[in-house]
Amino acid sequence: MKSVGIIGVGIYVPDQVVTNHDLSKRVDTNDEWIRSRTGIEERRIASEDMDTSDMAIIAAKNALLDASLEATEIDLILVATATPDHAFPSVACMVQEALGIKNVPAMDISVACSGFIYTMVTAKQFIDTNTYQNVLVIGSEKFSKIVDWNDRNTSVLFGDGAGAIVLSEVSKGKGILSFDLGSDGSGAKHLAVSKETNKVTMNGREVYKFAVRQMPESSYRVVKKAGLDSDDVHYLIPHQANIRIIDAARERLGLNKDQVSTTVRIHGNTSAASIPLALFTEIQNGFINDNDIIVMVGFGAGLTWGSVCLRW
Ligand code: ACO
Repeated sequence: MKSVGIIGVGIYVPDQVVTNHDLSKRVDTNDEWIRSRTGIEERRIASEDMDTSDMAIIAAKNALLDASLEATEIDLILVATATPDHAFPSVACMVQEALGIKNVPAMDISVACSGFIYTMVTAKQFIDTNTYQNVLVIGSEKFSKIVDWNDRNTSVLFGDGAGAIVLSEVSKGKGILSFDLGSDGSGAKHLAVSKETNKVTMNGREVYKFAVRQMPESSYRVVKKAGLDSDDVHYLIPHQANIRIIDAARERLGLNKDQVSTTVRIHGNTSAASIPLALFTEIQNGFINDNDIIVMVGFGAGLTWGSVCLRW
């Protein structure tokens, strides 16, 4: 099997910062409640004229620059999103057109907040089988358009943004070492977009119970699948939904607080964009170094989960 890894990372976050205090002017909430229950202090919200594809395009261009690749060297485009501009055409096709990439396959993958992990693993299969060489994997979300801004249970949780990576063959022993994917459709009712209102509805407590069980377990399983132990892990990049869920995964791997990304503080939950946004941020912070063992893990609507263990 080939060694498949990340050769470039790029992001986009909207300029507008919305603080907890800002939200407390709209719904009956306060900074203390949001911080202590979720770890979120602020989130970015996209302007009216900036949709999911616009953010995806900017993140993709930045990832290509980081990878030192021309857009024309990409031979597959995959976008993880739960908030596409419209049902069709896909965000992936819109990215393709904007980047001037001709005749390669492009598609969206819908796994909500687990989308980035699922999409990355899908891309790996195509590279493993020598079908494609350079795959653009993007997570882009504009949750602000499906959030009911009058519902304090959900409106305080989400933010907008996009992150992209280029996945290619890397040196032997590096890249993705193992993955763990799963879903449990019996939990579909707990987190959904309402058919009537087209807004997010959530049974927060049920989602929380699922997440504090499944995210730590998947993190642990993927390390074992790679033939490693928790001690070998240098850094954890969990889906950024809630600091208490993140801590549960960190503790399962026996990691210190400085070995886990907690960008939820500044981005809120950006669904499929949260893992690449966190990855980019921690690379900038100097926490991800050559040969480090990294675990990325997500959970989300479905209910779904997924993790990847890789050597950087
Ligand atoms: N401000 C103030 N009070 C609030 C707010 C708010 N923003 N939201 C809810 N409350 C109230 C509730 O109404 C409730 O009041 P009540 O007891 O009078 O009914 C009280 O606070 C406690 O609510 P709980 O639900 O018990 O609070 P909990 O500690 O469970 O925290 C939270 C709620 C943060 C939503 C938590 O359940 C959670 O994080 N769940 C997981 C959610 C998640 O990660 N979803 C995203 C999944 S990813 C995807 O695929 C999109």
